[in-house]
Amino acid sequence: MDDMGDDDLDDDLARELVRLLRHVAERKQESGGELVALLDEHLGRTAADCTIVTDRIQPWRLVDADVALGALDEEAGLVGVTVPRGYDGDLRGLLRGRGSGVGLGPVDYSSVPVGPGRERRVMSSGVRLMTYDRSPVVVLQRAADPDWGRRTATMEIIGADAAVVDAFRADVRRLMVERSVLRGQVISFSGGGFDEELGGIVFAERPAVHADEVILPDGVLARLRRHVSGVAEHRERLLAAGQHLKRGILLHGPPGTGKTHTVRHLVGRADGVTVLLLSGSSMRSVREASRLARALEPSMIVLEDCDLIAEDRGMGGGGELLFELLEALDGMDGDADVAFVLTTNRPDLLERALTRRPGRIDLAIEVPLPDEAARARLFGLYAAGLGLSDGVLAEAAARAEGVTASFAKELVRRAVLLAAVAGEDLADAHLTAALDELLDDREALTRSLLGSGARATVDQGPGAGSDGGWLAYADDHADDLDDDEGESGSSWTMRWD
Ligand SMILES: Nc1ncnc2c1ncn2[C@@H]1O[C@H](COP(=O)(O)OP(=O)(O)OP(=O)(O)O)[C@@H](O)[C@H]1O
Ligand SMILES: [Mg+2]
Repeated sequence: MDDMGDDDLDDDLARELVRLLRHVAERKQESGGELVALLDEHLGRTAADCTIVTDRIQPWRLVDADVALGALDEEAGLVGVTVPRGYDGDLRGLLRGRGSGVGLGPVDYSSVPVGPGRERRVMSSGVRLMTYDRSPVVVLQRAADPDWGRRTATMEIIGADAAVVDAFRADVRRLMVERSVLRGQVISFSGGGFDEELGGIVFAERPAVHADEVILPDGVLARLRRHVSGVAEHRERLLAAGQHLKRGILLHGPPGTGKTHTVRHLVGRADGVTVLLLSGSSMRSVREASRLARALEPSMIVLEDCDLIAEDRGMGGGGELLFELLEALDGMDGDADVAFVLTTNRPDLLERALTRRPGRIDLAIEVPLPDEAARARLFGLYAAGLGLSDGVLAEAAARAEGVTASFAKELVRRAVLLAAVAGEDLADAHLTAALDELLDDREALTRSLLGSGARATVDQGPGAGSDGGWLAYADDHADDLDDDEGESGSSWTMRWD
C-alpha cells in the first residue's frame, strides 16, 4: 500500500513538473514572440526577411562598439534580451524561433575598465532600436562568453535596406577607431596581448618624471625629445617637405643607467599620445601593437628590454620575433606618426639584424654609466632635502667609480636606514658608512643586481623579462604623484569574465 502511495505521489509530481515546464516554455515562446513583434514593428517589416549582418569583434573591443553605437543614435531605444547561455546560432536563428529560451528581459551590463581607475558600463546583452540615415536599424549586441565557447563579442545588424546596413557598419567601424577608449592612453598587455581569449589590457597612469630628475650626459635628452616629440610637433612641415614621421629610437646601455627612466620621462611629456608598452612575453604582440599604433596615432610603441626578442627564448623560437619586429618597423607607413622606442642592455644581440636592414632605427643613443659629475648630480637628486653636506656628496661621487644611477638611489636609502637603526638623525657619517658597505667586495652581487655596468655578472638587469619596471614603479610611487591622482590602483586589468 505504502508503495502505491509513493507511486501516486511520483505521478502527481511528474504531472506538476510537466505542467510547469510547459508553462515556462509557453511564457518563453510568448516573450520570444514579443521580441520578434518589437523588431518587426521597429523595422516596419518582418525582421527575419531583412538583411542581417553579423560582425564578430574581439572581446576587448566591445566597449568601443558600445561607444560608437551610442554615438550614432543617442536616442535609440534599448531592449533587454535573454539569450540562452551557450546559444551559438545567430540572430536570424533566434528570430526563426530556433533558440528556445530567447525573450525579453532586463538589459544586461558589465563594467569594463576604460582607463586607470575608470570604468564604463557596457551593454553585454541587449538590442538597440536605432534610426540611421532616417532608416530603422536594429543591433543585437552580445558580449563574449568564453566559458561557453563564445570567444568573440558580436554585433548583429538588421536593416530593411542593405545599402543602409553597409553604410551603418562602415560608420560604426570608423567611430570605434576614432573614439576608441584606448586612444591617448598608456597601455600594456598582460602576456596574452591581443589574444582573443585572454585579451588582457592594463591601463597605466601616465608617468610624471620631470626633466630635472633625469641625469644624462649633456644634450642627450634634448636630442631624444627632438626626435620623439619634435617630429610630432612639426608634422605638417615635415610632411610638406616630403619627410616621413615614423621613427625608431634605440636606447642602449648597462643595466640601471636610466633607459626605462628616460622613456618614462618621454612618455610623461607626450600628452595625448597613445603609448603601447610591450615587454617580456607581450612582445609577441608586436605586429598587432603596430596595427593598433597606426590606428590610434599619434602613438608610441615602447619595447622594453628588446634583446629578449633577439634571444627569443620560449617565445616562438627561431628568431621569428626579431623578424616580426623588423617587419613591424618596416611595414609601418612613413606618414604614420608612430615612434618606436626600444631599450636594451645588449645592443650587440640586435645590432647585426638592425644593420642588415638599415633605416629602421634612425637614432641610437647610448645611456652610459654616470661619470663623476653625473654621479654628483645623481647623489644630489636622491639626497635632496635630507640635509647632507655638499662635501660628503662630492666625496661619495668621487669614490663611487663605475656605479650606476640606481646605485645612487640605493646608497641614500642605506644611509637613511643606518641612521634609523641607530636611532640617530641622518648625518654625513651615515652616507660614508653606507658607501663603505656598498663598495665592499662582499656586496659585489648587490652592486651587480643594482646594475653596475661592466662589472655586472648578472646577464639581465633587474626587471628584465617582466614589465621593465613600469607598472611596479607606478604602484611604488603612487604617493609621489599629485594628490588628485594619487590613487594606488594605478593600473587596471581589462577582464572579460
Ligand atoms: N639617468 C638617471 N637619472 C636619474 N635617475 C636614474 C637614472 N638612471 C636610473 N635612475 C634611477 O634608477 C632606477 C632604475 O633605472 P632604470 O630602470 O631606468 O634602468 P635601466 O637602464 O632601464 O636598466 P635595465 O637595463 O636593467 O632595464 C630608476 O627608476 C631611477 O630612479
Ligand atoms: Mg629598463
